[in-house]
Amino acid sequence: MRLRNIKNASDKLLKSKHYLDEAKNHRGEFKKLFNNNNEIHLEIGMGKGDFILQMAQTYPNVNFIGIEKFDTVLLKACKKIDEYDLKNLILIRYDATLIEELFDKEIDHIYLNFSDPWPKNRHAHRRLTSDRFLKRYDKVFSADAKITQKTDNRSLFEFSLMNFVDYGYKIKDISLDLYKTDLKGNIQTEYERKFSSKGDKIYKVEVYKDYTS
Ligand SMILES: C[S@@+](CC[C@H](N)C(=O)[O-])C[C@H]1O[C@@H](n2cnc3c(N)ncnc32)[C@H](O)[C@@H]1O
Repeated sequence: MRLRNIKNASDKLLKSKHYLDEAKNHRGEFKKLFNNNNEIHLEIGMGKGDFILQMAQTYPNVNFIGIEKFDTVLLKACKKIDEYDLKNLILIRYDATLIEELFDKEIDHIYLNFSDPWPKNRHAHRRLTSDRFLKRYDKVFSADAKITQKTDNRSLFEFSLMNFVDYGYKIKDISLDLYKTDLKGNIQTEYERKFSSKGDKIYKVEVYKDYTS
């Protein structure tokens, strides 16, 4: 993603009604913060926020949290999302590498949309579906783990599938060409809109793991 620096972006974030500062102070208590017992769904690397905004509007009985590493990107999302007043959506600036600092067994579903592919082998551990990340996710998931991934990158998709299965996840649904299927209920991300409009294939998988069995 091309980044143009926005002056004082981190100060400006504080003015957003959906942005949560010092988020790790709420570790283990996000349901309290949302003031309900609904599921919490997390998008990692939410970019400019189109997906999470529409998800929060479509599913008012689910709580959504979007995390994004860069404040300039997050600020763009905040500006868009602040046109609405969504009680079920919180945005956080955080590096997912440290995700266990933020959450403790309270996330029900993770969305990984068009995550950076990190094509070099020596960077494989940085992919959001690498073993290192799947181990981190174990600490944040509640009783069940659900991950939905969408990507245009076939190599990342193959890597993710192998890792999910090796790690004990089961495949619930898979598409090797999402736009050749019934798109009912599909909510697009910014990257998805760009790639699908060029005719690129979009890959999607939903996996799950039950910690109680
Ligand atoms: C390729 S963009 C995709 C954006 C959006 N999900 C979409 O589909 O349009 C990847 C996003 O993930 C963010 N990101 C990458 N690594 C991250 C990390 N470790 N923690 C949080 N965000 C991250 C990037 O800053 C960028 O905004």
